[in-house]
Amino acid sequence: MAAAQPSIVYRPAQASDEAAIKALIRAVNINPMGLKWPRFLVAVAENGELIGCGQIKSHRDGSRELASIAVQRAWRRQGIAAEIIHRLLADEPPPVWLTCMDRLVPFYQQFGFVEVKGGDGRSLPLYFRFIRTIFKPIQKLSRIPGYLAIMVWPNEIGH
Ligand SMILES: CC(C)(COP(=O)(O)OP(=O)(O)OC[C@H]1O[C@@H](n2cnc3c(N)ncnc32)[C@H](O)[C@@H]1OP(=O)(O)O)[C@@H](O)C(=O)NCCC(=O)NCCS
Repeated sequence: MAAAQPSIVYRPAQASDEAAIKALIRAVNINPMGLKWPRFLVAVAENGELIGCGQIKSHRDGSRELASIAVQRAWRRQGIAAEIIHRLLADEPPPVWLTCMDRLVPFYQQFGFVEVKGGDGRSLPLYFRFIRTIFKPIQKLSRIPGYLAIMVWPNEIGH
């Protein structure tokens, strides 16, 4: 895995990062809900530009989700997302859940996440059961290719 550049600073977000976090999430076109800045870790370039972010969301059912992982296009494939994910997981007891489009399953497998397939639905926290249920009709209507994968770290299901 590419080593993250030493000139990049990784730090908890500040209120002043809020607009840049929202702009990055909008630019990469991922879930724009639940972007409260205090939960975010950000990657900042030498010139002060916010180039990557990620967060751990807590849900009402007690589950926690790795979410909003995004890196500006010009900064990709340099290990920035990997650094953000490692740092976020280092502070979290397992299990941590996530949702992603199926094409990103291999990406998250690198960090020890395993996909929870359909038959394991009963073992999903309520929030992720809900997401799976509402995503299906949305996907049909919008014709998004692929499917929404649910993954957990580490292998909570034991398969
Ligand atoms: C997915 C994303 C966050 C990866 O960021 P990144 O900083 O380029 O990732 P890294 O450089 O840390 O990659 C770590 C490893 O994953 C691999 N990888 C990166 N993107 C990948 C992808 N889309 N699919 C599979 N593997 C990928 C890299 O090759 C690297 O492995 P290597 O060093 O052995 O080659 C970035 O492409 C992005 O912002 N995409 C748009 C937003 C998005 O889809 N976020 C995920 C929401 S679930």
